[in-house]
Amino acid sequence: MFDTMTVTKAGGALCGAFLIFLLGKWAAESLYHTGPVAHGGEEVAQAYVIDTGAEAGGDEAAAEGPDFATLLASADAGAGEKVFGKCKACHKLDGTNGTGPHLDGVVNRAVGGVAGFGYSDGMAGHGGNWDPETLSHFLENPKGFVPGTKMSFAGLKKPEDRANIIAYLQSLGG
Ligand code: HEC
Repeated sequence: MFDTMTVTKAGGALCGAFLIFLLGKWAAESLYHTGPVAHGGEEVAQAYVIDTGAEAGGDEAAAEGPDFATLLASADAGAGEKVFGKCKACHKLDGTNGTGPHLDGVVNRAVGGVAGFGYSDGMAGHGGNWDPETLSHFLENPKGFVPGTKMSFAGLKKPEDRANIIAYLQSLGG
């Protein structure tokens, strides 16, 4: 079909084109560098984006990782009730304890604060209150946040799930 010379020429042409492309790219990059500029250039100012917070739409804001208070402000307690399905096996909301302590009124309750529940040493000795932020850290990674906890739960990785469930728990009062 093709003789050797044709193939060689075609190969050569391709290599040449690629080389020119690389050279062009290199030249373009050295002319218009887009990264942060160390030596007093203006581009440094755009190295990060400042989060303008609350007015951003819920989903959009979540994708960009707003702080937790912002997430909680727009959280959906109804969706949180569904997420709570993952906790129901161990936690009740009627003031009685199951495998875990009852969670009605847990928001802002003292950590390990249910009298008569047999907490692990890690939980009993933790101190502090379950404010929304602390709850979120615990629910993200229970064993990481309270070493030695006997709560066998992998964690809620999605910040939205945590915000929604905390809004739900908050809505129950105590
Ligand atoms: C497999 C059972 C189990 C599941 C599932 C579970 N927990 Fe727990 N939880 C426990 C146990 C047991 C403790 C007590 C831990 C300790 O003493 O270390 C606990 C403790 C807690 C505490 C601390 C309460 C206090 O009084 O200090 C919170 C808050 C909590 N769980 C929330 C949740 C939420 C929210 C979910 C669902 C997303 C969940 N847990 C899922 C068993 C569970």
